[in-house]
Amino acid sequence: MANSRSTVIRWSIFSVGGLVTLAIIFNLFQQFPPLSVTSGMNSEEYKPAPLLYIPPLGLGTWQISKSKTSTVVKFAIEKGYRHIDAALIYGNEKEVGEGITQSGIPRSSLWVTGKLWNDAHEPSLVRPAVIKTLEDLGLEYLDLYLVHWPVAFKPGTGRKIFIDNVNILETWRAMEELVKEGLVRQIGVSNFNQAQVEQILRHARIRPSAHELETHPFLQQSAFVDWNLAQGLRVIAYSPLGNMNPIYEASDTPLLQDPFLTPLAQKNGVTVAQLSLSWNMHRGVVVIPKSEHKDRVFENLQAQFVRLSDDDVQAINAYDQKARFNNPIDTWGVQLYGGLDGV
Ligand SMILES: NC(=O)c1ccc[n+]([C@@H]2O[C@H](COP(=O)([O-])OP(=O)(O)OC[C@H]3O[C@@H](n4cnc5c(N)ncnc54)[C@H](OP(=O)(O)O)[C@@H]3O)[C@@H](O)[C@H]2O)c1
Repeated sequence: MANSRSTVIRWSIFSVGGLVTLAIIFNLFQQFPPLSVTSGMNSEEYKPAPLLYIPPLGLGTWQISKSKTSTVVKFAIEKGYRHIDAALIYGNEKEVGEGITQSGIPRSSLWVTGKLWNDAHEPSLVRPAVIKTLEDLGLEYLDLYLVHWPVAFKPGTGRKIFIDNVNILETWRAMEELVKEGLVRQIGVSNFNQAQVEQILRHARIRPSAHELETHPFLQQSAFVDWNLAQGLRVIAYSPLGNMNPIYEASDTPLLQDPFLTPLAQKNGVTVAQLSLSWNMHRGVVVIPKSEHKDRVFENLQAQFVRLSDDDVQAINAYDQKARFNNPIDTWGVQLYGGLDGV
């Protein structure tokens, strides 16, 4: 009898203990449900977050012929490029989009920059311009959208040069609307001088996050680069191989054959292209070299892994030629780059 009573008591204690334990587990589960990427939504709604930072090395797409563009872009992405620099005026955005699609890369793993051309500065034309770019690229959003030049052409004139006097701040307001609408994640500028960036910064509700400009060992613009970085703008170096772009028709020795840079590259066991790209990345500048040759596309990508000594970086720093190659001042008949080197 005594035995059966103590068994009942033991079972009662055990059951109460079990219930308490279950209640605690249930409570904890309520507070800390298991982590799940689809928590709170079904898996079809889940979209991975886009890239937060600009990958330090991207593929330039200016002057890649339409027939080669999709192959080059697909190849670059397959080899590891995660950043594509495009623009409506390059005329190959459809083919860039095809290359992106063919690569099969998830959209969230890729950084794509686009640019507002000069003839669409009028505020009502800004949204249609980005919609055209998005449709051609086959994307739902751009990571970065830049005002290509601080110069307005008359609406719809394309490459023809009829200077218009649209206020850049009105254009900027329209750019800000694109961010609010989710069509572009970040906005920025290209080819501005310091006063023009300051004007945007003074009035911006959404600040520019990047400035794309010409810079390479022959046109270092160190003070201007540092100033942009200090304002919180990432600097993206276009024409990072200097005068290698044949359109520049420069009389100077091609940067890749430069007699000072060549032995420095050889000493480091790299090519001059890799040396130049790496030098820019060492000072925190993003580079976007263009090539339509697979071996060069791959060679340029390897510049990410080049480590230069402080002495070599200083030696290149001291080699600035202040030589600017992209300068449409005469063709467009406008003032550009006021106060900057190489004008
Ligand atoms: N925001 C702007 O206003 C602006 C202005 C200019 C450029 N950009 C952007 O910046 C990108 C790069 O600038 P960029 O095209 O002027 O010049 P770049 O990338 O400095 O140089 C391109 C030239 O160098 C050659 N090249 C590339 N890699 C090479 C290598 N490893 N060895 C030997 N030659 C090599 C290319 O020839 P192959 O193609 O024949 O290999 C091409 O002729 C453009 O494509 C564009 O996306 C923006």
